Amino acid sequence: MTHVISMINLKGGVGKTTTTVALAEILAGELNKRVLVIDLDPQTNATTMLLGEKEWTTANAAGLTLATLFKDSLRPEGEAAEFNLEKTLQKQVSPVSAVKKLDLLPSSLDLIDVQDRLAAVPSGRYYTDRPVDLLYKSTRKLLPDYDYVLIDCPPNLGIITLNGLRMSQGYVIPTKPDVLSTYGIPQILTRVSGFAEGLLDDDIVPLGIVINMYRAGTTVHETTLRALRLDVKASKLPPLFDAIIPHGDAVAGAAEFTTASTLRQRWGYKGHFDQLSALAVELDARAKAQL
Ligand SMILES: Nc1ncnc2c1ncn2[C@@H]1O[C@H](COP(=O)(O)OP(=O)(O)OP(=O)(O)O)[C@@H](O)[C@H]1O
Ligand SMILES: [Mg+2]
Repeated sequence: MTHVISMINLKGGVGKTTTTVALAEILAGELNKRVLVIDLDPQTNATTMLLGEKEWTTANAAGLTLATLFKDSLRPEGEAAEFNLEKTLQKQVSPVSAVKKLDLLPSSLDLIDVQDRLAAVPSGRYYTDRPVDLLYKSTRKLLPDYDYVLIDCPPNLGIITLNGLRMSQGYVIPTKPDVLSTYGIPQILTRVSGFAEGLLDDDIVPLGIVINMYRAGTTVHETTLRALRLDVKASKLPPLFDAIIPHGDAVAGAAEFTTASTLRQRWGYKGHFDQLSALAVELDARAKAQL
């Protein structure tokens, strides 16, 4: 069974992409899962972290990105579609040689333009024209090849993100433990459950909140973490993951596409890899129990 999980927060820069890439590499490299990353963010961060700038430039110039999939839906009647799933799928990505079973559907900067144009496509109540189905329709035959599909979303709930949510059974909310990063979490919960209801489909399960860039001893971080735990206890929020990702240079450095032989080398020796690894184990357990 394939678990499709979106990584979402309306706040930018909280670690959605970093967490997506780390989980994908660890699920594939340590837990022996077959993993697909779908990069829906026009910033292309997950794509360049996993594929490198050079390969991405070549793929992008040839139109072998998800932007082509969405552009097809905007072509006039009669014009041929150009998206080719097999050619767009980048196999065995990641600069870590220990990671073998990780594939990627890459993003493109062109998604910004596509997002604006798609939003202007007329759609009835609950999207009768279903521009939210585009991604699922074009990729579903690939899904059974994977144990996990992780979708890196941009920091909004626009039409592209909704395409990712549409095919997800669950979602994870990465956040920094500060006031502004956590402020929008209740809104995400409401919006996603409203969207799931409107699809007349199953629920999209909030699997939990990941605390990232934690700095122990920082008053704001400790206070926010306490407040989050109280809200979880009061059932206002989904559970936090026990693993907490500390702030660290190694994690920031993983943004660079540099060859590494082990995951520990890529994600850091000072406890960062251990926490990310624990997070992957927890995610796997929650996905099995709840999705
Ligand atoms: N635990 C960490 N320690 C140090 N730096 C981190 C950590 N996690 C992420 N970063 C860095 O913080 C920045 C933001 O992280 P990231 O790009 O993953 O966030 P994001 O939520 O995906 O952002 P966006 O909303 O722009 O897509 C990046 O420069 C990343 O390398
Ligand atoms: Mg990102």
